[in-house]
Amino acid sequence: MTPRLYLRQWLSGRDFALGDPVAVAMRNFAYALGDRETGEAVLVDPAYAPRELVGLAAAESMTVVGAVATHAHPDHVGGRLLGEHVVAGVAELVAATGVAVHAQTVEVEALLERTGVDPARVVGHDDRDHLVLGELDVTLVRTPGHTPGSQCLWVDDALLSGDTLFVEGCGRTDLPGGSSDEIYASIHERLAVVPDETTLYPGHFYADDPHAPLGRVRASNTVFLVRSLAQWRASFG
Ligand SMILES: [Fe+2]
Repeated sequence: MTPRLYLRQWLSGRDFALGDPVAVAMRNFAYALGDRETGEAVLVDPAYAPRELVGLAAAESMTVVGAVATHAHPDHVGGRLLGEHVVAGVAELVAATGVAVHAQTVEVEALLERTGVDPARVVGHDDRDHLVLGELDVTLVRTPGHTPGSQCLWVDDALLSGDTLFVEGCGRTDLPGGSSDEIYASIHERLAVVPDETTLYPGHFYADDPHAPLGRVRASNTVFLVRSLAQWRASFG
């Protein structure tokens, strides 16, 4: 990894949003990604306590200049979760800091609807768009399946995978907009270009390890035991 890469993984309910029982139960990871030299960072999936995340980055001399949504579920970007419970997220972050929120274009409508974020501060992206932070070049890889506009962030030796791929298992596809066939293609085809040496940083802490080399995930995660779409449909469809 380049020494300029600033990457932090924070677990909800443990590293931030302490005392929030929903944050504890959901085991979400929020991330900060940036260039240490320029001091610019983006928050990835800043739910539950976005201003606290800004503070965590600031404590390490990093200024939050934007946010990236891996997808528009409330435990990642804020909104109504578990009935009436409202999770804070990108709307609060934008109101407090004025930064822009980056998402895949096909996910923008859901993001606006669920979070109430200021539409003027939302930037839609296509597959393989780049987000440049100082000298860092982040590739936004669209990986539909968990949601239509799910995306992974690929930078240097790191892949932030949201709910597309976990260290063990993958995101569910039975929620509105989900597609089992699409997540198969995302995991097995769209992400196939990412080398084994890359470290996978998932959207939830659902395994023993908070992150793992992608090569190890490919060897041990049950979603990689399947070798064809037909097998996938039989096993996971
Ligand atoms: Fe999700």
